[in-house]
Amino acid sequence: MNLLCAIAILPVILVALLDTIPLASASSLMNHSQPSMATLASCPKSCGQMSIHYPFGIGAGCFRQPDFNLICDNSTQPPKLLLHDGVTEIIGDTDSSFDMDVGSTESIDVNISSTIPMLSSISHYNYSWNLSSFSIEYVILNITGCNFDTYIINPDTDIRTRICRNSCPKEEITEAVARQSCNGTGCCTYDIYGVANLQLSFVRGDEGLLGGNSSRNSLWNIINIRSWYAYVTWSIIDQPTCASAKDNRTDYACVSANSTCIDSFNSMEYLGYLCYCSSGFIGNPYVLHGCTRDEGYYPVQQKANCSRRCGNISVPFPFGLEEGCAARKLFQLNCTNVTSSTLQFDRGHVVTDIDFAEGVVGIKLASYFEEQEFSMYRSGEPDLYASFGEAVISVHWAAANLTCQEAQKNHSRYACVSANSTCLGVDSTYGYVGYQVQMHGWFSWKSIRR
Ligand SMILES: *[C@@H]1O[C@H](CO)[C@@H](O)[C@H](O)[C@H]1NC(C)=O
Ligand SMILES: *[C@@H]1O[C@H](CO)[C@@H](O)[C@H](O)[C@H]1NC(C)=O
Ligand SMILES: *[C@@H]1O[C@H](CO)[C@@H](O)[C@H](O)[C@H]1NC(C)=O
Ligand SMILES: *[C@@H]1O[C@H](CO)[C@@H](O)[C@H](O)[C@H]1NC(C)=O
Ligand SMILES: *[C@@H]1O[C@H](CO)[C@@H](O)[C@H](O)[C@H]1NC(C)=O
Ligand SMILES: *[C@@H]1O[C@H](CO)[C@@H](O)[C@H](O)[C@H]1NC(C)=O
Ligand SMILES: *[C@@H]1O[C@H](CO)[C@@H](O)[C@H](O)[C@H]1NC(C)=O
Ligand SMILES: *[C@@H]1O[C@H](CO)[C@@H](O)[C@H](O)[C@H]1NC(C)=O
Ligand SMILES: *[C@@H]1O[C@H](CO)[C@@H](O)[C@H](O)[C@H]1NC(C)=O
Ligand SMILES: *[C@@H]1O[C@H](CO)[C@@H](O)[C@H](O)[C@H]1NC(C)=O
Ligand SMILES: *[C@@H]1O[C@H](CO)[C@@H](O)[C@H](O)[C@H]1NC(C)=O
Ligand SMILES: *[C@@H]1O[C@H](CO)[C@@H](O)[C@H](O)[C@H]1NC(C)=O
Repeated sequence: MNLLCAIAILPVILVALLDTIPLASASSLMNHSQPSMATLASCPKSCGQMSIHYPFGIGAGCFRQPDFNLICDNSTQPPKLLLHDGVTEIIGDTDSSFDMDVGSTESIDVNISSTIPMLSSISHYNYSWNLSSFSIEYVILNITGCNFDTYIINPDTDIRTRICRNSCPKEEITEAVARQSCNGTGCCTYDIYGVANLQLSFVRGDEGLLGGNSSRNSLWNIINIRSWYAYVTWSIIDQPTCASAKDNRTDYACVSANSTCIDSFNSMEYLGYLCYCSSGFIGNPYVLHGCTRDEGYYPVQQKANCSRRCGNISVPFPFGLEEGCAARKLFQLNCTNVTSSTLQFDRGHVVTDIDFAEGVVGIKLASYFEEQEFSMYRSGEPDLYASFGEAVISVHWAAANLTCQEAQKNHSRYACVSANSTCLGVDSTYGYVGYQVQMHGWFSWKSIRR
């Protein structure tokens, strides 16, 4: 009965919906000069674990320039997100969750790969990687196969330089063995920095001409190009610089108020430009009204009966273990093992304790690199942790990236709700981070400002 009703009503709803969609929104879907949250509302936001942010997108009306039209191959599990060439895979660093956001940072980790079959009659093969909005910032290539030289071609001068020689004295070497050391025997490795595009050519030696038949193993029949570490950078390319883009406002990409434009260049040339939210603003500068002040803090717990322990670590509000239990997304932690009291910020960072009175969180560093420049990242959130210490560090947290004066203006989002609390600024070595609640007699100033 219910089902029948639903079926009967559906067409009516559809007609009603179509009626109420203003014509303007349908046409502005195709208008990439003024993208807004509304025009992008129906665009896919993610593919597998990767999230996608404008100017990137999937499908008509969702991306800014053709190179940013991504492909989600969901025939695999998890689905694969590919660049517009349909081959280069965008890969995320799940440990930090930082690189899972395509479009919110200027660099993208990728896997480059290609397989070229070798025929006995042909001794010369070419490969190119060329997407004009992208530049290869760094790539380590492993090239497997037998008996050929690899050349890199400088597209400006057409000069070719030999970068690799693959030889196979022992015919029985397998690809897996060759890859392990990748020392020239069946596999050769080369790293390349800062090129706008990549052009390689492969020239087979005479002995190889005898090969290319199925009696030999695959190393003799296939050239396989694979990156084992690569990242590319992107930019807006319809104007070469910010200055010319601003002169020519009709298609200026930095459409949000409180955004700024920065020229993008490698060591050789101007590549275009990038947009950023101005200091103190977060969000998407490529979308109308995309850059806002930090409004991410909800001083009131949204959900009842929140669990407040992870083994023997207590997890007081503003932190929480579930959605609705923390004051903001950045303060939502994951209790991955109750028995061992393993509380995680993300897969890379373990929280050892939360000292509410001192306003500090103890965090195990994900790698020693971070001792220099520790930062926490969660999509759409500012970094509100001010750090000091080594190996296990203590970080002060700020409630929001606002001044006390600003925060007090918006009562529904103001963290200092207790009668005995006052607002306090938190600084890190890099500058002002945001405001924090000081309970009287609890925090000491020296532990906040250093
Ligand atoms: C795109 O949007 C702008 C501003 O809303 C408008 O002036 C322009 O006419 C639109 N262009 C098209 C092709 O719809
Ligand atoms: C997989 O991708 C196709 C084409 O992009 C789409 O039609 C389909 O809904 C997707 N399936 C899932 C489960 O996302
Ligand atoms: C490879 O590129 C060169 C120019 O760089 C060209 O002369 C040659 O014909 C190409 N070979 C193939 C097989 O496409
Ligand atoms: C290169 O690695 C192969 C194994 O893949 C090994 O047999 C060979 O001895 C190595 N050659 C040199 C020069 O190290
Ligand atoms: C590439 O070669 C290096 C050795 O130079 C090796 O450690 C690595 O596993 C190889 N990776 C692939 C994907 O072949
Ligand atoms: C990327 O390539 C590397 C080396 O070939 C491989 O180990 C890794 O699994 C690939 N990542 C993805 C997400 O396919
Ligand atoms: C604006 O862009 C158009 C088309 O790209 C170009 O012809 C014109 O010279 C540009 N004007 C300025 C001032 O850069
Ligand atoms: C943010 O943008 C608005 C609108 O353009 C402007 O009035 C305001 O001064 C800007 N704020 C800052 C801090 O730049
Ligand atoms: C917080 O906002 C201030 C400006 O009010 C800015 O200088 C600072 O860089 C911001 N910090 C973060 C982490 O966004
Ligand atoms: C929490 O950790 C578990 C186990 O590692 C994982 O499956 C889950 O996705 C994580 N949840 C969040 C929100 O990170
Ligand atoms: C949780 O921690 C305990 C104690 O360290 C360990 O024995 C157990 O294997 C862990 N469980 C998981 C799922 O990692
Ligand atoms: C404020 O603190 C004083 C002493 O520090 C205490 O007597 C009073 O009860 C507190 N008031 C509230 C509302 O917590």
